[in-house]
Amino acid sequence: MIKLAPSILSADFANLERDIKMIEQAGAELLHIDVMDGHFVPNITIGAPVVKSLKKVSSLVLDVHLMISAPENYIKDFAEAGADIITVHAEAATHLHRLIQMIKKEGCKAAVALNPATPLNVLDYVLEDLDMVLIMSVNPGFGGQKFIPSALDKIKKLRSMIRERGLHIDIQVDGGVGIDNIAEVTSCGGNIIVAGSAIFNAPDPTMAIKKMKEAVRV
Ligand code: DX5
Ligand code: ZN
Repeated sequence: MIKLAPSILSADFANLERDIKMIEQAGAELLHIDVMDGHFVPNITIGAPVVKSLKKVSSLVLDVHLMISAPENYIKDFAEAGADIITVHAEAATHLHRLIQMIKKEGCKAAVALNPATPLNVLDYVLEDLDMVLIMSVNPGFGGQKFIPSALDKIKKLRSMIRERGLHIDIQVDGGVGIDNIAEVTSCGGNIIVAGSAIFNAPDPTMAIKKMKEAVRV
């Protein structure tokens, strides 16, 4: 099943509850929360206290994308704040295997994100432990960037890798996805689609969600 994960990075931070209710009613399944530290990526966003507040007002799956250095120091905070899925970047991890176990031990689903230039083989020895892999289709740090086409081939190869090993792992795709290219992304094997600007910068975000869902018939 294809699921939509609107990214609150492009929402109105002064009206997060309003924006989240809107995407909930429009049928989104997950809430993608972009955590940036100004170190791993050149931008700063929000931390665990905001996740804790959002947990109180939303029943959506809280999908926390950590774009931070030394993620091992913050896993517990985000888990306790109410994260359902915690995604760490392979590029930010010295001990990726340990980090994945740490996330699972906290009772969250574990995911690893790969930047556009990072090869799939970093997953070779951890794939079996993962609930989801996040393929970045832009360089992380900002919303509203253009989709990098080489991500499509990467998604296809990852889907085959998962299938060959007989696993059931979600492939999330993040960055530059909208109404015009969502079908291509899902046809390559992406099944959890993040969209920030395509939804929140649309004149009618509810309609944007409906159109994206129609484009992949879910
Ligand atoms: C980028 C973030 C994305 C971002 C996507 O670093 O990880 O989740 O919000 O925004 P759009 O959909 O506008 O590319
Ligand atoms: Zn993200």
